Amino acid sequence: MTERAQEKVASPHIPVLLDAVLQSFDGIDATGSFIDCTLGYAGHSEALLRAHPGLRLLGIDRDPEALAFSRRRLAPYVERVQLLHGSFSDLLPGLLSRERVVGILADFGVSSLQLDHRERGFSFESETLDMRMNPQQGFSAETLVNSYSVEALERIFRDYGEIRPARRLAEAIVKARSRRAIRSGQELAAIVESVLPRRGRIHPATQPFQAIRIAVNDELGEIDRLLDTLQADPPAGAVVSLITFHSLEDRRVKNRFRDWSRDCICPPGTPRCLCGGGHALGRPLQRKAIAATPEEAAANPRSRSAKLRSFRFREKPEQGKEG
Ligand SMILES: C[S@@+](CC[C@H](N)C(=O)[O-])C[C@H]1O[C@@H](n2cnc3c(N)ncnc32)[C@H](O)[C@@H]1O
Repeated sequence: MTERAQEKVASPHIPVLLDAVLQSFDGIDATGSFIDCTLGYAGHSEALLRAHPGLRLLGIDRDPEALAFSRRRLAPYVERVQLLHGSFSDLLPGLLSRERVVGILADFGVSSLQLDHRERGFSFESETLDMRMNPQQGFSAETLVNSYSVEALERIFRDYGEIRPARRLAEAIVKARSRRAIRSGQELAAIVESVLPRRGRIHPATQPFQAIRIAVNDELGEIDRLLDTLQADPPAGAVVSLITFHSLEDRRVKNRFRDWSRDCICPPGTPRCLCGGGHALGRPLQRKAIAATPEEAAANPRSRSAKLRSFRFREKPEQGKEG
């Protein structure tokens, strides 16, 4: 058995696009600090620590269960590792100002364990309705589903789930909860099925559950704030690799990397450059997003929607023109 195959047995979560992630960080100055914004079960982080013996790892997760697992998994590297509980949008600004950061990874979304542990209330079979990545956060899926107005629910289903009968689904939820509060994933899935009939192999509640999860955890807001932080305080020479799982996430990353690559920031249509150029923060590492190979997609269904994009910040953004 190879070292990578052993990892899969030990961890409840298989890291996606592992080889491409490792490759994206091949050229970093591996004597600095690396931030894993979504440590999870440390699949990516462990491989990075093994590949770069001088690297120091700062691992962030808002899920204490994931951190506890990773603390054990990363015990052999304890001298090089610091784990932090919280959201990356809160923690990243402080770390960037304190550390010499050479690489940043974020593997957005939920882990397999969060989905599989029924008591976390993420799944159609759950007896609870929770979906909080951070159980210390007050606001859960149960609060959202039982208190949001029909308009607010409709907006979540339309904007985050791209669900066409968003209004009908929102109304069905409001009607059901007027009889009795909705307290489990099972009850919510049954309401969804009364509006969206089963077609094919994908459960009709997949998109609505994902939409609610995105709202409960403010997942898109977290990505926007991460990108804002990097834009405001680009870590010189560092590589940032971001793994997204749906178009709402990927579009954000793709557009920002495109903006960051622009030397000229004159408004579109300006007849000649007035800004003087030299504004690019760096360059993307790939021309197109990297997706899973057919072999990986077959072995790990979670990888099927994964896309990796990487960006290298230039050495000294405040000096001169990007070459
Ligand atoms: C897909 S898993 C990461 C898996 C990890 N790369 C591995 O190899 O095991 C995503 C993890 O990120 C965490 N997470 C998601 N959004 C977060 C945020 N805004 N701040 C901190 N952690 C977050 C989740 O709790 C989850 O454990």
